Amino acid sequence: MNILLIGSGGREHALAWALLQSPLLTRLVCAPGNGGIAAIAECIDVSAEDHAAIVDLCRRENIGFVIIGPEGPLVAGLGDALAAAGIEYFGPSKAAAQLEGSKGYTKDLCREFDIPTGAYGRFTDKAAAKAYLSGVAGRVVVKADGLAAGKGVVIPETHAEAEVAIDACFAGAFGAAGTEVVIEAFLDGEEASFFALSDGSHVVPLATAQDHKRVGDGDTGPNTGGMGAYSPAPVMTRAMIDRTMAEIIRPTIDAMATRGTPFKGVLFAGLMIGADGPKLIEFNVRFGDPETQALLPRLKSDLLAALLASARGTLAAVELAWSDDAALCVVMAANGYPGTFVRGSEIRGLDAAAACPGVQIFHAGTQKNGDHFVANGGRVLNIAARGATVAAAQQRAYAALDKVDWPGGFSRRDIGWRAV
Ligand code: AMP
Ligand code: GLY
Repeated sequence: MNILLIGSGGREHALAWALLQSPLLTRLVCAPGNGGIAAIAECIDVSAEDHAAIVDLCRRENIGFVIIGPEGPLVAGLGDALAAAGIEYFGPSKAAAQLEGSKGYTKDLCREFDIPTGAYGRFTDKAAAKAYLSGVAGRVVVKADGLAAGKGVVIPETHAEAEVAIDACFAGAFGAAGTEVVIEAFLDGEEASFFALSDGSHVVPLATAQDHKRVGDGDTGPNTGGMGAYSPAPVMTRAMIDRTMAEIIRPTIDAMATRGTPFKGVLFAGLMIGADGPKLIEFNVRFGDPETQALLPRLKSDLLAALLASARGTLAAVELAWSDDAALCVVMAANGYPGTFVRGSEIRGLDAAAACPGVQIFHAGTQKNGDHFVANGGRVLNIAARGATVAAAQQRAYAALDKVDWPGGFSRRDIGWRAV
């Protein structure tokens, strides 16, 4: 079967690497891909925003199944356009992608179906938002309702700071995503990511992971798209996984079916594990980045078969096998990230790093320039490693990372610290 993979990040390189192990795969095409993906698949530069062009590409290249990596095209309804053209795809419909596309939509769903999450209000009006804030006793989090590339969340220390965040949001700090604002209770606890596949009615849990969102060691500095991840997350014990499935994932899948907008694809729950169990921070409707780079090296089953079963409604017959190993992924970013950074710096030593035992290198923002790679983004490389424990995986990942010769980039040195 010919597959088209949509996206260009480290997540997509990891997906491509796993898909290539499937006996069901004939040919892998990626749009637009990146320097690392180009080494293992055919990259074609077509924008996912141009739905007609993607449909044309599928017809021209005889694509049988499309896997949509990022949230943007899912929320914009690329899946619906493919379905209308009779092309099978992995991921939610536009209606079901609202679980990530609108934070207010998800909060309302939680309220209606009794899914544990923080108390909240949603507002299209500044005065009403501030009136709500004045009635809240504790700390709050202020969020732009729509997609804001991970930047639409402000965690103020005080209510005065929260008012500033509300003003900024309505003044357009997050563009159209901020025309509606969600104010929610600050949740205490330890964060974890949980992933499950659904075909609209059946659910198969994938695995757990923990991300590191801050740019600096010790979880300091500004938020980023994610500086590293590891899987499994020790806070997600068997009991906590069972509760997450029973209290959050299963009720959400049932609710979406009840509403007539069944959720197919991968449901990524961002959780806060507190004293009274798991609470939902947010849903994403796609694989995590960089969590996927730590998840897929542990997957022993055929990824493509599982994604096809999600699309076709046959997940009941799918059981996934996972390695007992842990895996850990360290992100290397261009100097200056998440602020302004320079593109084009040369990266050397990748072959030596990739030759280290248990290591996989997934490119996020690279470009091939003659015989070497150059940086072409903020997050540039993912150094992933497996090991018997998180500590062993961490040691292997950093041993490989130290072979990468790239003065233009940096990484955190403490990925996995909670588990080590
Ligand atoms: P989100 O984009 O919604 O995942 O938010 C980004 C980050 O903000 C999360 O990973 C959390 O670290 C933090 N965060 C979001 N909502 C809350 C909340 N209600 N309580 C505490 N931290 C939160
Ligand atoms: N690593 C968080 C995300 O993919 O949204």
